Amino acid sequence: MTATPIHFQVDLTEPTQVLNPNTRVKLDPFQTGTKAIVARNIEMVFQSGSQKFHALKNINLDIYRGDIQLLMGPSGSGKTTLLSILGGILTPTSGSVCLGGQDVTRMSRSQLAKFRLKNIGFIFQEFNLFPALTAIENIEVALKLKGFKDQSIRKEAMNLLDQVGLADRAKRHPRDLSGGQKQRVAIARALAGNPQFIMADEPTAALDSQSGHAVISLLRQLAKEGNRTVVMVTHDPRIIDVADRVAYLEDGVLKS
Ligand SMILES: Nc1ncnc2c1ncn2[C@@H]1O[C@H](COP(=O)(O)OP(=O)(O)OP(=O)(O)O)[C@@H](O)[C@H]1O
Ligand SMILES: [Mg+2]
Repeated sequence: MTATPIHFQVDLTEPTQVLNPNTRVKLDPFQTGTKAIVARNIEMVFQSGSQKFHALKNINLDIYRGDIQLLMGPSGSGKTTLLSILGGILTPTSGSVCLGGQDVTRMSRSQLAKFRLKNIGFIFQEFNLFPALTAIENIEVALKLKGFKDQSIRKEAMNLLDQVGLADRAKRHPRDLSGGQKQRVAIARALAGNPQFIMADEPTAALDSQSGHAVISLLRQLAKEGNRTVVMVTHDPRIIDVADRVAYLEDGVLKS
């Protein structure tokens, strides 16, 4: 049976400051400052029939712009669940997540879908490319979804492939690419529309050491040169060297 997340309705009254009787200014309830992502009091409870599973317990996490933030911990500790919540794919049972100053946990479904499309690129362990489409077509699909005009799509897709060093493989299908190349296509796709946030779930787990290295350097370059915020779940100890911060989860609790 598939479990469904439980949602508590949380009513956060927005603080306001009265500057003069005619002007009310919204204060930043999360005091985000230079923080790109602020997660507060996150709880996640999955319910399967009468069984409840408390997957995340009182998570508080600040992630800074331009940083590579790792989420590490044993299997089942809640890393993917937390990444999905930070990326607005899952809504937590309670608590808030603020991305770039906006509370994604309070958005409607359609607002959230638009926000994700514009601001977040996702990268997965298994690449998730369309097998019937070529490398460039996989990227074009993403650009179309993000509202790019037909006449600019091919050029932009080529630019993105070029950024990941694969311009010469544009017409290949995923089956004719190596694992590392497939992941680089997936990264190019995640970069469609130039999102500020990149969320990656074990992006090097399916790669040999050399391709893993190429993907790690690319992600670092994206964070540092593009001033993007990269949040990455990983078991890969090599990534620790290029990360700015590491958060460890154990049984749904953040250790550091
Ligand atoms: N939809 C769901 N329904 C019920 N339980 C779930 C659901 N999704 C995740 N869980 C449980 O929540 C816990 C955390 O899962 P999660 O996938 O976040 O772990 P993880 O740290 O990413 O593990 P891994 O390293 O193996 O990928 C696990 O015990 C998992 O079984
Ligand atoms: Mg996982």
